[in-house]
Amino acid sequence: MAGMSGGRYSEVYRRSIEDPEGFWGEAAGAVSWYRRWDRVLDRAKPPFYRWFPGGMVNTCYNALDRHVEAGHGSRPALIYDSPVTSTKKTFTYHGLLDIVSRCAGSLSDLGITKGDRVIIYMPMVPEAVISMLACARIGAIHSVVFGGFAAPELATRIDDAKPKLVISASCGIEVNRVIPYKPLLDKAIEIARAKPERCVILERPQLEASLVPGRDMTWEEFMAGDPAACVPVAATDPLYILYTSGTTGIPKGVVRDNGGHLVALTWSMKNIYGMDPGEVYWAASDIGWVVGHSYIVYGPLFHGCTSVLYEGKPVSTPDPGAFWRVISDHGVAALFTAPTAFRAIRREDPEGEYIRKYPRSGFRRLFLAGERCDPDTLLWAGKHLRVPVIDHWWQTETGWAIGGNPVGLEMLPVKPGSCTKPVPGYDIHVLDNEGRELPPGQIGNIVVRLPLPPGCFPTLWQNDRDFVKTYLSEYPGFYETADAGYLDVDGYLWIMSRTDDIINVAGHRLSTGAMEEVLASHPDVAECAVTGVKDPIKGEIPVGFIVPKAGVNRPEGEIVLELVRLVRERIGPVASFKLAAVVKRLPKTRSGKILRGTMKKIADGEPFTVPPTIDDPAILDEIRESLAGLGYPKGR
Ligand code: COA
Ligand code: AMP
Repeated sequence: MAGMSGGRYSEVYRRSIEDPEGFWGEAAGAVSWYRRWDRVLDRAKPPFYRWFPGGMVNTCYNALDRHVEAGHGSRPALIYDSPVTSTKKTFTYHGLLDIVSRCAGSLSDLGITKGDRVIIYMPMVPEAVISMLACARIGAIHSVVFGGFAAPELATRIDDAKPKLVISASCGIEVNRVIPYKPLLDKAIEIARAKPERCVILERPQLEASLVPGRDMTWEEFMAGDPAACVPVAATDPLYILYTSGTTGIPKGVVRDNGGHLVALTWSMKNIYGMDPGEVYWAASDIGWVVGHSYIVYGPLFHGCTSVLYEGKPVSTPDPGAFWRVISDHGVAALFTAPTAFRAIRREDPEGEYIRKYPRSGFRRLFLAGERCDPDTLLWAGKHLRVPVIDHWWQTETGWAIGGNPVGLEMLPVKPGSCTKPVPGYDIHVLDNEGRELPPGQIGNIVVRLPLPPGCFPTLWQNDRDFVKTYLSEYPGFYETADAGYLDVDGYLWIMSRTDDIINVAGHRLSTGAMEEVLASHPDVAECAVTGVKDPIKGEIPVGFIVPKAGVNRPEGEIVLELVRLVRERIGPVASFKLAAVVKRLPKTRSGKILRGTMKKIADGEPFTVPPTIDDPAILDEIRESLAGLGYPKGR
């Protein structure tokens, strides 16, 4: 077991592992319940565990009503700051409750009831947050889909979640480009087998959407309902489904329950982030990702904080100080973002000139997650911001941090490159491929002993079988994180890489397998492989290798362009798939396994040993040449 030392952290950590029922039962006292749970943890059907069975609760009540009832109605709940539309708007707890209640009533008027699914495909606008909370209020299950995904990805999610309703907007805004959303939605519904009955479209002034009569209505028309009260739901009922990339092209529907999520996120705000009610918290992510769900919407509101909803990029020329302006304007106490944002900022402002321009008196800490944080970026941020920079590690599946520096309990010394220690509730082990525990310092498969703490996914949407197969079968009794890394002699956790085909592009989780499926569907492609290669800003970007079918003699550049377009159309611009090389053959082992790892090492300019099982070592020289043609390795 990890995490031994003598301070408050280790005391709390030990208790959370030795007595999870006592520990989380106590934490649940911070949440408002309609009915107390029968048991803190139901262990009757391993590997399925349920937190707080018998408990009745409402997530929206805990996010809004409870603070208003406690007399904090005039406190800001949500600050919408959108440099791309030159808009700033503050919603108090009272104001947000009012609009969310009306939105909930309007959902009910459309026949949406407890357990129905609602897909939210929206840019970073307040209506997205309002829709999420309104679903929670009536017990409907929301599924937010990131705006950077293309129509087929949205269609897959529609088919899996089978929503009665989709809430969307006419457009998103990417710096100074207007991105029409409605044609993507129409196309997705056309492709999908499960057709939603209705669509609500927020018409933004930048672009008007054309509506399908009888199916579509505007946000204005929709919002005519009377306010609806909170519907008590079981603690174990689903609050949302969030799809995430898996090892195949088919995304996995991560389910979040109501009770465990409420307890874990409420606990995390003070203990992991050191926040107090009334303070301003800013997660500069997107509501389409888990970070956005947990720390733009739910966590800060459960804790009575003010949350910033920022529609924009970290650096928007001519203002590389965009982030510091927001922190300064709104008195942000803690910022949470991905290291990629800092690499982008550093490129524009290497000496921190713009950081110094904005006063940040109440700013206390920077939290980073979403991808491995290179020590250089962490040190640069700390030097210029002059606050502790805290890397922490988590996944869509867990919904909150697995490893981190729980500053509200005790600020542990930072080791750049490590995400500090296991978070209370997570019993972390490092195993070799045969399931044997590895000694400190040795890299292996990072696993978490079951049961996972509250807040983590109880299953995949209507797919218990894949839940067990994907996460729980390789190492029985443990959750397989699919991250590789190690625990050092001090119990610090080092997350090094994924063990599957997932890559992290600008903090966005993507499957190279899904990209390969798209490339393979091109009529001229005989074989292909996609691997993530190092990128100075995005951390990693995908590079494709394509072997054309015999007899294809079109210009290579033409094929590559078509493939780039195809990935954009099928997966979306967020895949950042822009580089591909046409090669004669792919390097393989004698048993036919493509050596993606070796290609990655060549691209990254890292040393490697030629695998003894390689079929034909000469192919590696061809790969090296093709990569050199694309400019890899960089900086050589
Ligand atoms: N709707 C439509 N398109 C979107 C989109 C959205 N919501 N989000 C991104 N895209 C598009 C971008 O415009 C870009 O398109 P392009 O290829 O035509 O230029 C493409 O998807 C790739 O986006 P991204 O990888 O975000 O690159 P970027 O150059 O626009 O921005 C960063 C790079 C680093 C500034 C940005 O990714 C960032 O701020 N990341 C940190 C915060 C974060 O989101 N973390 C996630 C988890 S914590
Ligand atoms: P997502 O589900 O999109 O949050 O992505 C989860 C994955 O991102 C993890 O499995 C890791 O591979 C990676 N990740 C997230 N945070 C960190 C971190 N702090 N350090 C290293 N990798 C991280």
